[in-house]
Amino acid sequence: MNAFSPAARPDHSLDVVGDFPILATRTDGTRLAYLDSAASSQKPHAVLDAMQDTYEHAYANVHRGVYGIAVEATARFEAARESVRSFIGASSPREVIFTRGTTEAINLVAYSWGGANVGPGDVIVCSELEHHSNLVPWQQLALRAGATLRFLPVDEHGVMDIDALDDLAASGNLKLVAIAHVSNTLGTVAPIRDIVDRAHALGAVVLVDGAQSAPHRPVDVAALGCDFYAFSGHKMCGPSGIGVLWGRESILAQMPPFQFGGEMISRVDYDATTFNDLPWKFEAGTPSIVEAIGLGAAVRYLDALGMERIAAHDHWLTDYAVGRMSEVPGLSLHGPVAGEERGGVLSFTLDCAHPHDIATLLDSHGVCVRAGNHCTQPLLRKMGLHATARASVYLYNTTEDIDQLITAILDVRRIFA
Ligand code: ALA
Repeated sequence: MNAFSPAARPDHSLDVVGDFPILATRTDGTRLAYLDSAASSQKPHAVLDAMQDTYEHAYANVHRGVYGIAVEATARFEAARESVRSFIGASSPREVIFTRGTTEAINLVAYSWGGANVGPGDVIVCSELEHHSNLVPWQQLALRAGATLRFLPVDEHGVMDIDALDDLAASGNLKLVAIAHVSNTLGTVAPIRDIVDRAHALGAVVLVDGAQSAPHRPVDVAALGCDFYAFSGHKMCGPSGIGVLWGRESILAQMPPFQFGGEMISRVDYDATTFNDLPWKFEAGTPSIVEAIGLGAAVRYLDALGMERIAAHDHWLTDYAVGRMSEVPGLSLHGPVAGEERGGVLSFTLDCAHPHDIATLLDSHGVCVRAGNHCTQPLLRKMGLHATARASVYLYNTTEDIDQLITAILDVRRIFA
């Protein structure tokens, strides 16, 4: 067994634990090592305070009232949209649609854009490593439209064969390519710009599932070149119940509304309705007001730290975790091999214990990881697995968290092996 020597803590690594009140929590006197940020992230004071302050001083419905607190609530809500616009490099706030999360953003595109643009003989392409939320909406669209859903194959390490796109496209009329930027199960990073260039050359539009990339790396939708980019607030220090669909304005403008009701209308008569401008055309009903304001605070918090630094911190800690895991006998780490780019996701199995038993025992050490199929059942079946345990890192994690994880895994081995 080789002892792993970690690289020195880099200058750019972060020291933000004190910003996250939950990380001071002790479960039965045990230090909390929260390693499940791919499922949901913890929230800093900056976000909690922005939300509490709005509830206490500026809460009312938005885009309706003319009184002071309603005007203030609307200003904070639209300021959050502007913060998100700047965070992802969108050219206009009209392109930033608030949704409940990534799943709703993808469903919006599947129903609105898909309903208007996909028909019999058309082809939609995903990859084999998609989360159910970037697979089932397309499967259901294909069923409704008489189209075909095809998959870019991945190898045993989750690396995508993007050369297969031409062959898949040849089986019909390629309309859409929908790909996760970073796999939530394996950490594989997709070559988005390359995929976009190939898909555009074939006349297709591209949707990127950014749920695992927007929180962890600088994202510039113009540089990515995609047509839609979807992400969730709760994985990037914001609250749950809020997410974003970014879409190219020229495409959004042609799309019919997704849901109907208040807010998304311009004029309503008993027999006809005209719809609101972008982005509100896609925001029927009272939105998640305080959650959007919380997301605005979250992206300003991340921006102030610097997404480059956050990405470098994740990368360094992931390398450290990969190295420490290599010390554990009987541990298999799934996903990209050493030297390949990997997001901060570490899916592993042990030869002696089921992933759910691993996660349960880790909990008794204060270590929080997810166990299961990670909403990627077809991928796990393809890999011959039923489940994995998954540790995932974020800006507030430290080498202490990883060391606590390894100590806990060694205890699982002691008990089960
Ligand atoms: N998509 C989230 C995960 O991977 C819930 O855990």
